Amino acid sequence: MRTPVLAGNWKMYMTPEEGRQMVQALIPLVADCREREIVLCPPYISLDSLAKALKGTNIALGAQNMHPAKEGAYTGEVAPGMLKALDCKYVILGHSERRQYFGETDATVAEKVKAALAANLIPIVCVGETLAQREQVITEPVVDIQVRLGLAGLSPEELAGIIIAYEPVWAIGTGKTASSADAQKVCRFIRSVLSSWHGDTAEKVRILYGGSVKPDNIRELMEQPDIDGALVGGASLKADSFARIVRFEE
Ligand code: G3H
Repeated sequence: MRTPVLAGNWKMYMTPEEGRQMVQALIPLVADCREREIVLCPPYISLDSLAKALKGTNIALGAQNMHPAKEGAYTGEVAPGMLKALDCKYVILGHSERRQYFGETDATVAEKVKAALAANLIPIVCVGETLAQREQVITEPVVDIQVRLGLAGLSPEELAGIIIAYEPVWAIGTGKTASSADAQKVCRFIRSVLSSWHGDTAEKVRILYGGSVKPDNIRELMEQPDIDGALVGGASLKADSFARIVRFEE
């Protein structure tokens, strides 16, 4: 019922030429995958060349961040309409690295989510607990607040169109994956938060897992009823490993 989403977040890796070569290798490896949304989120400087390389393929483009304003004197920032003009369909918002290193808060995430929707971009909103929060057994309250504040004020129709990525911070880039049962438990909890808020609309929202996703764990993650895809960092940098993740192949 919910179309799976497999999104690669390249973070601050790969020049435009390296990105172009990766994409040329990836396109034929996933060309027959029709019942899922495949997304690549490269650094801003590669969006233009990748938009051209991906035209007519089944791979869509996303950005890793954006400023909420339509335009303005914000040196170094990129506006939602600029991403749209480069054929971006998705935008990652509130990634834990943005929260940790660039001071993003649930309030800035909420502002960006609204701006993305106004520009017809699909937000991929990231939430997740740190290791210290996990050890204090406060994962659910932490994620509850991130979801409620980050998605504050959305109508049921708006909520149905967004994607949430549950990324436990301790699992990002560490090789430690949450067990599929633990990931399912938190994704189920997120859906219950959405449901207490907007009822059946919660069943339409795609919830992804992120954190050391690899070909050898994607299948088990995708078997979980509330996990609708993955947000992939390191393993999305190589065509072969990302293609195996997209294909749910070990
Ligand atoms: O956005 C992606 C996540 O931060 C996961 O990164 O797959 O390298 O752990 P990772």
